Amino acid sequence: MATPRILSGIKPTGAPHLGNYFGMMKPAIEWQERGEAFYFIADYHALTTVHDPQALRTYSRAVALDFLACGLDPKRAVLFRQSDVPEHVELAWLLSCVTPMPMLENAHAYKDHLAKEKTVSHGLFAYPVLMAADILIYDSNVVPVGRDQKQHVEMTRDIAGKFNARYGNVLVIPEASILPTVATIPGLDGQKMSKSYDNTVALFEEEKSLRKKIMGIVTDSTPVEAPKDPVTSTIVGLYKLVADETDVAQMEADFRAGGVGYGDFKKRLFGALWEYFAQARARRAELERDVEYVDRVLGEGAARARAVAEQTMSRVREAVGLA
Ligand code: TRP
Repeated sequence: MATPRILSGIKPTGAPHLGNYFGMMKPAIEWQERGEAFYFIADYHALTTVHDPQALRTYSRAVALDFLACGLDPKRAVLFRQSDVPEHVELAWLLSCVTPMPMLENAHAYKDHLAKEKTVSHGLFAYPVLMAADILIYDSNVVPVGRDQKQHVEMTRDIAGKFNARYGNVLVIPEASILPTVATIPGLDGQKMSKSYDNTVALFEEEKSLRKKIMGIVTDSTPVEAPKDPVTSTIVGLYKLVADETDVAQMEADFRAGGVGYGDFKKRLFGALWEYFAQARARRAELERDVEYVDRVLGEGAARARAVAEQTMSRVREAVGLA
């Protein structure tokens, strides 16, 4: 592959959390060195769950700020808002017409929602089709995502295959890139970190609130003196993401030896987390004061993304007989 086209998106449903960061943002930022990267704020997707217009604006902006603060370089990667490229929705319709209903009925995310809610919107049901359009409209080769998005990328490949079977070799078949080391990020209650479990830690949590959350991590009731199991511990799981190897080895040894309480381990975790994001936090504070810069990045990103999306759409419209 000459220069891979890399694409990923993040839903602005709240402040990005550690699960978003280690699952998608950090790998995406690393990928920007290796090809032509397109990263977008999936605001159309967020509408399936965010129904407060002001909240949507705030969250979209927070995602842009967090991404830039963490090292997304707008000279290398194209950062844009999905709704600035409405061609995504146009392609989604064309893809809908080749997508079998049972494929969507089998999606994990849809089934999970059905189990929890009385009714599910058509937007939520059709979410994987829009996601396929997001990916296919940029002729993407690589899609860095968290483990939870694997099925969505597989559906994208299937949908592209069906489209190509009907209309010829029009769409590029993408590949997911999932880092095995960060397959699941534990949340404060030990389940997978996710907004829907209300167990998240934001990247740029206020100091007091971060301390409170870390000290509130759910643990078992093993007494201070007793040995503890580092393998199943949420504290160790999170510590591994932000501490260096020696410190991790030390914590694991202290777990096994006994004599150190969970409170102490939590303090170590808090310190490591605070330190890990120190530089990005400072950068974020600078960016927050420079509203125009962020607007300019998103504006230029939208123009660059749209130019590529328009080219794909000309090809696609022609292929299906709309042009
Ligand atoms: N569905 C993804 C999530 O919930 C966000 C997303 C939307 C996305 N479109 C995408 C990710 C395209 C990668 C590629 O996290």
